[in-house]
Amino acid sequence: MSVVANTIFSPELAARFDKLVTMYPVRRSALIPMLLYAQDEIGAVNDAVIAEVALRVGISELEVRNVISYYSLLHTKPHGKFHVQVCTNISCMLRGGYEMLDHCKQRLGIDNKETTADGLFSLEEVECIGACCWAPAVQVNYAFYDNLTPEKMDAVLEEYRQKDGTK
Ligand code: FES
Repeated sequence: MSVVANTIFSPELAARFDKLVTMYPVRRSALIPMLLYAQDEIGAVNDAVIAEVALRVGISELEVRNVISYYSLLHTKPHGKFHVQVCTNISCMLRGGYEMLDHCKQRLGIDNKETTADGLFSLEEVECIGACCWAPAVQVNYAFYDNLTPEKMDAVLEEYRQKDGTK
């Protein structure tokens, strides 16, 4: 039985959440997976998501916000359709991570944590994404690109522009 009368989620996701909270010894253990699924569907963990998730897992909105502020995978504002994450942690830094970040800023015409006016790309400087042996590395949504050069990065961005099909 759901604790939410009027959900903001699709019927499928709401049903999934109803089940999810029963799979753990305590409801709040479902918090992180619930936030990730909600973000995938809504585009961000916005105020409405926070309010409903707090209700579903039985904690305060402030506690949900505290968790969101800790996890870089969770974001309260919508990203671009293609979210470009450039690693500048030590291995990548030594192999041109900051230059790659500057290159992406210049090519996309946006700064760190900004989104292009058409909503296609957003850019974020991130910590290690686990591809240190093949630095410098970039992640676009769930796909990884490594051993990058500015020319290879241009090809990656172009690939996504083509994928969008509108540019
Ligand atoms: S330091 Fe960049 S992927 Fe690990």
